[in-house]
Amino acid sequence: MKTKDKYIGVGDIAVSQLAKKYVNQVLSSRRITYGPFADSFEKEFAKLHDLKYAIFCNSGTSALQVALHALKREYKWNDGDEVLVPALTFVATVNIIIQNNLTPIFIDVDPDFFDIDPTMIEKKITKRTRAIIPVHIGGLPCDMDPIISLARKHSLRIIEDSCETILARYKGKSVGSFGDFGCFSTYAAHTLVTGVGGFICTNDPKLATLAKSLVNHGRDGIYISIDDDNVSSKKKLFSIVDKRFNFVDVGYSYRATEFEAALGLAQIRELKENVKKRRENAAYLFKGLSDLQEFLQFPKERKEAIHTYMFFPIIVRDGVSREDLVYFLEERKIETRFLLPLLSQPVYRSIFGDLESKYPVATHLSHSGFYVGCHPGLTKKNLDTIIHIFHQYFTSRKKRK
Ligand SMILES: Cc1ncc(COP(=O)(O)O)c(C=O)c1O
Repeated sequence: MKTKDKYIGVGDIAVSQLAKKYVNQVLSSRRITYGPFADSFEKEFAKLHDLKYAIFCNSGTSALQVALHALKREYKWNDGDEVLVPALTFVATVNIIIQNNLTPIFIDVDPDFFDIDPTMIEKKITKRTRAIIPVHIGGLPCDMDPIISLARKHSLRIIEDSCETILARYKGKSVGSFGDFGCFSTYAAHTLVTGVGGFICTNDPKLATLAKSLVNHGRDGIYISIDDDNVSSKKKLFSIVDKRFNFVDVGYSYRATEFEAALGLAQIRELKENVKKRRENAAYLFKGLSDLQEFLQFPKERKEAIHTYMFFPIIVRDGVSREDLVYFLEERKIETRFLLPLLSQPVYRSIFGDLESKYPVATHLSHSGFYVGCHPGLTKKNLDTIIHIFHQYFTSRKKRK
């Protein structure tokens, strides 16, 4: 994300008066690790997503890492067991599988919606398949019904990677509430921004306790709430204090601070408005660019889902050079990002060899796709500028021919 004001960026952070007040309250309280702001942020985030437990941690990657670790431990999987993952996602979704000593098995994606193609899943399931990680790309919930039926049929656990998708619904049900775990990110340029941050969410009390423990060095799960030591009985208090330094797992130090929570809590109050504005901006861009459909493919909305547009993805059609177009936009101060190049990463090439020839749709999208912003910080003038510069590019291209 460019910091210069003149850039039309892919993301933004709204620092309201409320956010400043909350951050100052943290400073005055001198309680900067887990405290009342994190506690309220977790409760409000869980409620908004119809979930029982939301554990705030330091990133979406940490959330995914802990969720998979918890399932591996709970269901006694072996090293090398397989986890299904889309062939188009951010590297973190795959890295956490490798870091848990499990094997990622890639599934090609849908050419219109850019997410896991349910029709490609079953043929990849083996005796060693344990879980599936559908990734809700850029604000759009995956087609969850067929994924859930396959998971049930083959006894697979589900972790939703919802790092790019907050407050979206599929058939009326919130993202993050379909699987054993739903993981979210509040990193810069996401929908709700706290700098770094993430949520591990679940409806299962046992998994919630385990995840909270893993985030906290594997500390004994009895100490999972800041109010746990507000007890009247001295005996109970001693037992809690004792357990606080009792470690039952090889855990991580993935805690976030009160500063991130304060920023998040201030924004969560405006989250519905934030998403509404994103949807309006996406509709405006779509309308303004729709006459360029012979050159560009635009995002589709599933009729059974609410898209929350973390960004506005665009795929160039055959004959259009993505690099040339992106360069033209960047030169005119419109920030872009390539659409999640995964299979071509040197690290995966060195581990798995050539993946690109096996996943044609993901390969095509990651070579032809990019995105621009559609966040609430964009003005009508910014959106008009984006639309105008796209038209300028295709007009100058026609002239060059
Ligand atoms: C699909 C996806 N998964 C996981 C992550 C990781 O989140 P974080 O950057 O908070 O670790 C991201 C981050 O952008 C993402 O896009």
